[in-house]
Amino acid sequence: MTRSIAVHSYKGGTGKSTITANVAVALALKGRRVGVMDMDLEGPGLHVFFDIDPSDLRFTLNDVLAGVAPPEAACVRMSEKMNLNGGELYYSPASVRLSEIMRTLKTGYEVDMFENAIKRLQEKFGLHYLLIDTHPGIMHDTLLALGVCDHQIIVSRVDQQDIFGTGVLIEVSSSFEKPVHLVLNMIPPGVKESEVSKFARVIGAHFTTEMAGWLPWSEEVIGSLSRSVLTLKQPKHAISLRFRALAETIEGFA
Ligand SMILES: Nc1ncnc2c1ncn2[C@@H]1O[C@H](COP(=O)(O)OP(=O)(O)OP(=O)(O)O)[C@@H](O)[C@H]1O
Ligand SMILES: [Mg+2]
Repeated sequence: MTRSIAVHSYKGGTGKSTITANVAVALALKGRRVGVMDMDLEGPGLHVFFDIDPSDLRFTLNDVLAGVAPPEAACVRMSEKMNLNGGELYYSPASVRLSEIMRTLKTGYEVDMFENAIKRLQEKFGLHYLLIDTHPGIMHDTLLALGVCDHQIIVSRVDQQDIFGTGVLIEVSSSFEKPVHLVLNMIPPGVKESEVSKFARVIGAHFTTEMAGWLPWSEEVIGSLSRSVLTLKQPKHAISLRFRALAETIEGFA
């Protein structure tokens, strides 16, 4: 069975793209067939993690949503380049050209086009998972797209500004009646695991949503400058274990 999972947040910079890239690779390294879509059409960033030169791309998701190209034509197979031990990873980039970003923002897109793209990629590549990175906030187009996905992961820092917005987002997202999972990221150093677990339970209960996991603040992540996927480059590092734990939790999603 295929699952589409949107990774979203209210505020920007919570770690959505980092989590999407690392969890996608962690799942692929387990032998799964994984798709990754960069639906942050205003501020795409996944190409940096996957070391793709956007000028090499013939088509992007912008073309797919405009009906100019089929989804599989705007898809880069990463499996050989990344050496994924038999797993598969298909990456659907968004355009980084200003004119195309502006065009997409101006014209918007039909949610049907997005839904069809998901279905087509799932069928064409026999995907187990399709992870969808998003633009933060509660913009109309993004929310419609979220409503199409089977699951939503909402990423939040524990900063009180984030927590407030996360509450708003969970309330809005819950109206789609699809499972909403919360991930806390960048837990400050020095906070003990037992304290985070307690805190996470309190937040989860407060928002009546499921806590999918948490990740500590990591020098390794910030130091990577988003230029590598740590689950691939440093599989034994503690932060990679955390990304893999999140991948395991996703495998358990109903
Ligand atoms: N656990 C972490 N520890 C330290 N730094 C982190 C962690 N997670 C992400 N970062 C850093 O935070 C910054 C933002 O991460 P990322 O780009 O993944 O966020 P985002 O939610 O996708 O942002 P945007 O909303 O702008 O798309 C990056 O510099 C990244 O390296
Ligand atoms: Mg991002």
